[in-house]
Amino acid sequence: MRIAVVGLGYVGLVTAAGLAEWGHDVLGIEANPERLDVLRDGRLPIFEPGLDGLIARHIAGRRIIFSATTSQIASVEVAIVAVGTHDGNGGWQTDTIRACLGDIVPRLADDATLVIRSTLPPEFLPSLAGLVDGLRAASGRPEIPVVINPEFTREGSAVQDFLFPDRVVLGVVRDDTGSGERTLRMVYRAVDAPILAMPAPDAVLTKLGANLFLATKISFANELASLCDQFGADVTSVVDAMGRDARIGTSFLRAGVGFGGSCLPHQVSMTIRSAAQYSMDTPLLKAVDQVNHDQRTAFVDRMEAALGGSLAGRRIALLGLTFKPGTDDLRDAPALTIALSLLGRDADVVAYDPMPTARAATRRMMPALTVVDDVWAALADADGVGLVTEWPEFVSLDWSDVRAVMRGDVVVDGRNALDPAALDAAGFHYTGFGRQVGSARRTVRGARVRRREDTSVTPLIASVAFD
Ligand code: UDX
Repeated sequence: MRIAVVGLGYVGLVTAAGLAEWGHDVLGIEANPERLDVLRDGRLPIFEPGLDGLIARHIAGRRIIFSATTSQIASVEVAIVAVGTHDGNGGWQTDTIRACLGDIVPRLADDATLVIRSTLPPEFLPSLAGLVDGLRAASGRPEIPVVINPEFTREGSAVQDFLFPDRVVLGVVRDDTGSGERTLRMVYRAVDAPILAMPAPDAVLTKLGANLFLATKISFANELASLCDQFGADVTSVVDAMGRDARIGTSFLRAGVGFGGSCLPHQVSMTIRSAAQYSMDTPLLKAVDQVNHDQRTAFVDRMEAALGGSLAGRRIALLGLTFKPGTDDLRDAPALTIALSLLGRDADVVAYDPMPTARAATRRMMPALTVVDDVWAALADADGVGLVTEWPEFVSLDWSDVRAVMRGDVVVDGRNALDPAALDAAGFHYTGFGRQVGSARRTVRGARVRRREDTSVTPLIASVAFD
């Protein structure tokens, strides 16, 4: 099938590459000339494992062609809109998608299907069908089917997530004859997963609900970790044992500095804001958000407590800048908030991340932070090590060697990724989140820092118990 993907950001590029892999002919449209030059050069403007090879192969085989304009849009059977809806400041914006629709909708073929893959604010949905119908009517063209097709791909495994999804969701905005749904089922015919067609509001809430639930699981795990610290339990064994109950499962229950990235934090905070516009309270989501932000402060508090109560002049090796391994994305990365907070408490912070592009971007964004190009340069003479992103290169460090180059003996593990017993054996004072070390169980240095001074109940539990 001949398919246009409009907007070659993260979502659009992965979609374009995956569709080409399934044998469709893809017209990738990108308005930003610099981004397009990079793509035409055979390079990628983002880092995503496996994506570069796929794109290069399909450019060479002419399955993907790139264009700066929408001039060929009339020739496609399906137009997939994947332009951004973030305002770059923690909010939504719909100017870009409105402009995009204004450009392409009047020129789409009468038998084409319009697909929206961008994540939409729920309040935009009621106006979408009218907007598209109006654009068609103004150009004297008949109505076309409009279907929402949210993505559920994770950075770092987006190509696999696209090619092998758990489900495909189709949200019908307008599809009077059912031809839109039939077309989309053809687009996804290679997929061995359920294709779930539903009304558009259900699809929007499915996308939002999935991310809100994942965020809730992580904040739950973080609160559970605090309870474990308080009562001397180890959250990793607790989650493992809990998760063997098929109703619970173990995924997305890893405690630590909490969730970052472009999706989870933004969708939690924006849903709280969207609901508030309609005078609706969202106590659970507010608690999820609060727990998540408190984790970053808790990390800095733990480092301070483990170093004897003051960070002033202490040298901290900060391991990891990206919001998770396998990406160079720094959007809402916990490491950046943590670095700022450590600097604010007068620590001498030396950061390292395996992704050169993430190091360069951090240097531009935070000139006050020292970012080095080698992990050992970060570790040398450090009083404490703070692990914020669980890159395999950090987890597999020989910690006896690390101890030998450091001045101090403190490790704060913000991802519960290291082996506490091994670090104990290497002579470190290890602090994780809800993890206890052998003989020091219940009295791990710094592990029992109280995050909130005035509550006897933790926020998630409070929101459930009292609302
Ligand atoms: C997320 C959703 O998973 C994906 O389905 C959606 O399409 C986009 O948003 P992504 O932002 O790539 O994907 O990252 P994800 O793997 O979900 O991790 C988000 C954050 O949560 C990361 O900072 C990660 O470190 C953190 N996390 C994840 C935890 O703190 N604990 C966990 O148990 C899992």
